Amino acid sequence: MEFYELLEQWFARNGRDLPWRNTRDPYRVWVSEIILQQTRVEQGRDYYIRFLKAFPTVGQLAAASQDSVMRQWEGLGYYSRARNLHAAARQVVEAGKFPADYAGLRSLKGVGDYTAAAIASFCYDEPRAVVDGNVYRVLSRCFGITTPIDTTQGRREFAEMADMLLDRQRPALYNQAIMDFGALHCTPKSPLCSTCPMEAMCKAREWGRVGELPVKSKRTAVAIRHLVYFILEEEHGCFLIRRREAGDIWKGLYEPLLLEMQHEADSDEAMAALGNWLSENAGAWGEEVDLHLKESVQGLRHQLTHRLLLADAYRVRARGCDAERCKAPEGYRWVSRDELVELAAPRLVNRIYEHFGMAE
Ligand code: ADE
Repeated sequence: MEFYELLEQWFARNGRDLPWRNTRDPYRVWVSEIILQQTRVEQGRDYYIRFLKAFPTVGQLAAASQDSVMRQWEGLGYYSRARNLHAAARQVVEAGKFPADYAGLRSLKGVGDYTAAAIASFCYDEPRAVVDGNVYRVLSRCFGITTPIDTTQGRREFAEMADMLLDRQRPALYNQAIMDFGALHCTPKSPLCSTCPMEAMCKAREWGRVGELPVKSKRTAVAIRHLVYFILEEEHGCFLIRRREAGDIWKGLYEPLLLEMQHEADSDEAMAALGNWLSENAGAWGEEVDLHLKESVQGLRHQLTHRLLLADAYRVRARGCDAERCKAPEGYRWVSRDELVELAAPRLVNRIYEHFGMAE
């Protein structure tokens, strides 16, 4: 039997019934693929259902505010996905219709080769092979490809191989099958080789090198950053927050006053840094304010792809300060607690709110 036949036979018995597989609506498939780019299926499923409840059509997504889109994405991470989805929805509405082929899909903001191939094959039966992490793994093992996947040469080689193997009669079925096979059977850590339908043809199995494939040329360096958050509360229970701007992974999300340190800081250092910052950035009241530390939490860890964030948070009462008289520093504003928890925030920040019993 051919590779595609073995794969499709495996899929008929083991494929998952997932909510985005019961539709050929390109809007729905697009939303699912953007969510699943960097999110596991189990977590992505709930977000997918909620996102589509909030924005059932591309028109409704385009008409929504960025804050409400970010709110739906809150906790998923990689927030540029949500900003691009929103921008692309506006592109679609402006054009008057959803792109009807691979090239058109590829021109949408945030849609790369993988996502365009997924939508074009699932919705329009266009013969485009998807190449994602699952596909790299399955092909490198089965066909013994040792070219590193994070190189130009590697990307080209795998794309050609994927295109050659594609079942051109049933691209939607084939693409779903290879993804599920990689996710469920030919897994990164403990692949199920003894019950694998490809066992007889698998090069990695023959060589005893399943665990070494696929090959990557570099290990990603992880930098450590030390963040200190201040939940600064004025006399009437309002808090100082800002919306993150500038080319930033958390752009569009809201957070309390944040100072970045060069090293770990104890509470005396942190409070001194806050005092300095306010005296420089908050005008006259910042120089006189009486800061009172109420609670703190140390050593929260938040792992990002290329960064480890180590965060401390301080809940601080600013005595003698009230939002009406004391102007918020530039970029910041005072909000009530209800407003604070309503606005979309990075997961790290929500963990801090929860820690201090401030969450909904
Ligand atoms: N991962 C990315 N896209 C997927 C899909 N359509 N089904 C299952 N897993 C996926």
